[in-house]
Amino acid sequence: LPQAVVFDLDGVITDTAEFHFLAWQQLAQKLGISIDRAFNEQLKGVNRADSLTRILQRAGQADAYTPAQRQQFMTEKNDLYRELLATLSPADILPGILPLLADLRAAGCRIGLASVSENAPQVLASLGLCDWFHFCADARALTHSKPHPEIFLTACRGLGVAPDQAIGIEDAQAGITAINASGMYSVGIGASLTGADYRLNHTGELAWPDLLAHWQAEQACP
Ligand code: BG6
Ligand code: MG
Repeated sequence: LPQAVVFDLDGVITDTAEFHFLAWQQLAQKLGISIDRAFNEQLKGVNRADSLTRILQRAGQADAYTPAQRQQFMTEKNDLYRELLATLSPADILPGILPLLADLRAAGCRIGLASVSENAPQVLASLGLCDWFHFCADARALTHSKPHPEIFLTACRGLGVAPDQAIGIEDAQAGITAINASGMYSVGIGASLTGADYRLNHTGELAWPDLLAHWQAEQACP
């Protein structure tokens, strides 16, 4: 049995990935930069400062603003994002997540969170999910954003589990890269993801027996 499952939050547990996109899109528009959902795939799993850098780089504006201006842009984006969060409730938990959490608990599997979002504690609270998690990595204490494995290694350490005995679940390409680099087993949610050990199109397809079977097959035949 795997000893732990570590979840990404935005886009896996709830659809806040869409809120992040809408907020960045609005800020980018103000700066005369247009971003679409295809480009947004490169922002998923990437922290606030690095996301702004990627957006500015896309428009050739990497050096156009002072650190104070960039800070102001990040604050504006976060204010927009938090407005969108205001209505978040347990009804916004994506399909398949609660049954999986219950099955993991029943199996004695430890449950962790690996979100680089500084809003993660509030999102988890709005969804009513805090009590399910044995350990949540603190985004503010990280040096690196995904695709660096730091956050997944931190989560495994916090759970007291070796990475090769743990599963990570992600909707971001940067997240899959981070899980793979950590030595964990990667589960990808999304049609366009590459490199995941096991990939599904939607969270509704997540089922503990299937996950377990795939993980065990990998242990037998790495
Ligand atoms: C990640 C999202 O979970 O958190 C990114 O996938 C987001 O889109 C990042 O930029 C940082 O979030 P926040 O809430 O700290 O700005
Ligand atoms: Mg995500």
